[in-house]
Amino acid sequence: MDVEISLRVDGAEHRLVVDTRTSLLDALRERLGNTSPKKGCDHGQCGACTVLLDGRRVNSCLALAVAHQGAQIVTAAGLAQDGALHPMQESFIRHDAFQCGYCTPGQIVSAVGMLDEARAGWPSAVTPDFASSNVSADGGGSGVLVEDEIRERMSGNLCRCAAYANIVPAVKEVAG
Ligand code: FES
Repeated sequence: MDVEISLRVDGAEHRLVVDTRTSLLDALRERLGNTSPKKGCDHGQCGACTVLLDGRRVNSCLALAVAHQGAQIVTAAGLAQDGALHPMQESFIRHDAFQCGYCTPGQIVSAVGMLDEARAGWPSAVTPDFASSNVSADGGGSGVLVEDEIRERMSGNLCRCAAYANIVPAVKEVAG
């Protein structure tokens, strides 16, 4: 069944007609021409399609477009503001944190979302025990987001080129 919906993507309002079974990823890519989120597995396993949905990281291939009217959707394309790249985008470039680049938009969006989650306090139900982190749910730690924690919290974003050795330092630099 087709329905008319509105989506707020990267600060712009869009009206479009979609089938009720259309994924948010397909709505973004096929209907709105926003090819920033990538279709890797289309089954919630690779993270290439990661977007921020009201600030939370979501695999857009698993979300239905009709379910997210009114939500603030941010893709990697929307992270740059006023002609300036987001610090995370700049850090990925500085660290050469990609090879083929297919997973990169999802990696960057996930990293930005992860740091926002850290600043807001991790959801305790999904907080592993990283003793040296300054962003644990109870606010304890040494003030450093350790590389193991970055790897764990971004484990939903796969890189087939295995560029993790550069991705992790790129994220860590922005995390401080
Ligand atoms: Fe959505 Fe792989 S395309 S998780």
